[in-house]
Amino acid sequence: MKRNVFQKQSESEIDEPAVTTPVPDTTAEVNTKIPIHEKPAGALTDVINLVNINQVYSEHTPPNVVFKDFNLDIKDIKDEGQFITIMGKSGCGKSTLLRYISGLQVPTSGDVYIYGKKRTDKDRIPMVFQQYTSFEWKTVLQNVALPLVLNGVPKNEANEKAMEMIKIVGLDGHENKWAKYPTLSGGQLQRVAIARNLVVNPQILLMDEPFGALDTITRKQIQVFLRSIFENAKIDPTIIFVTHSESEAVFLSTDIFILDSGPANIRHQFKIDLPQVRNDSVRYSNDFTEYVNKLGSLMEDLKNEV
Ligand SMILES: Nc1ncnc2c1ncn2[C@@H]1O[C@H](COP(=O)(O)OP(=O)(O)OP(=O)(O)O)[C@@H](O)[C@H]1O
Ligand SMILES: [Mg+2]
Repeated sequence: MKRNVFQKQSESEIDEPAVTTPVPDTTAEVNTKIPIHEKPAGALTDVINLVNINQVYSEHTPPNVVFKDFNLDIKDIKDEGQFITIMGKSGCGKSTLLRYISGLQVPTSGDVYIYGKKRTDKDRIPMVFQQYTSFEWKTVLQNVALPLVLNGVPKNEANEKAMEMIKIVGLDGHENKWAKYPTLSGGQLQRVAIARNLVVNPQILLMDEPFGALDTITRKQIQVFLRSIFENAKIDPTIIFVTHSESEAVFLSTDIFILDSGPANIRHQFKIDLPQVRNDSVRYSNDFTEYVNKLGSLMEDLKNEV
């Protein structure tokens, strides 16, 4: 797979911004300098392991058990990126799962390993959220450069790298606009959030319903754009994506995991064997329709369960 966006970095260069998103539960992290994980050289190590995860909210009667002895292994595949989409009923624990991986939440008990190392409080994996999460009082350029600036990259160099990323996400010419609605459209604001997360060249990227607020046409365009970033990345990224849209899941993914709930378990797991390069024409193929129908029927079965 040819790649040109996610660039492998040396350990010393890698600094996760910790400012991936200024939503309320992450603002405390904004000024922290935090290392990002790098894929280890040599033998394959699992990308992520969730081991014996339990999540209980005991303030509820009866307690809300979201995860009970939950395990998940995301294996590394030699020379291949992975685009894994997690689906499941509302409230089953998808966002919680991403928060464990990102480091925004720790489970009641259990461990999270990233590339074979137990994660610590200082580890962060970038995450793109559904809400537009840019700093409205900063320009597009300042938003995208911010993770670099916070991590000590000199301003000129940070701006230069940010501009490269702004071009990649197709916001060239908008760099000096305020990153707020309606100065930028919803789709453009989501591109700013994606650019801000990609500018640090993450090996693993988490996306929680990032396109949920977009209109159908913009959503399809941004899916094509995200998929092309994945297809063309220089390293083998692992993207973990959450959506409620079956066609979005099929269009983007290499793998789909379906969670059931109460407590959450992986009910189904399957590969999407569509062409590596996916443009809009893929959506009209029989294989695409078959996958969407299959997924739709599995989701329908879940919804019909109490
Ligand atoms: N602080 C909390 N206190 C009590 N329950 C909580 C808390 N945070 C999350 N939960 C519960 O954890 C469960 C999983 O929530 P989560 O947000 O992960 O679901 P989800 O699968 O992402 O749902 P959706 O598809 O609607 O986004 C839900 O039942 C939710 O009510
Ligand atoms: Mg959620």
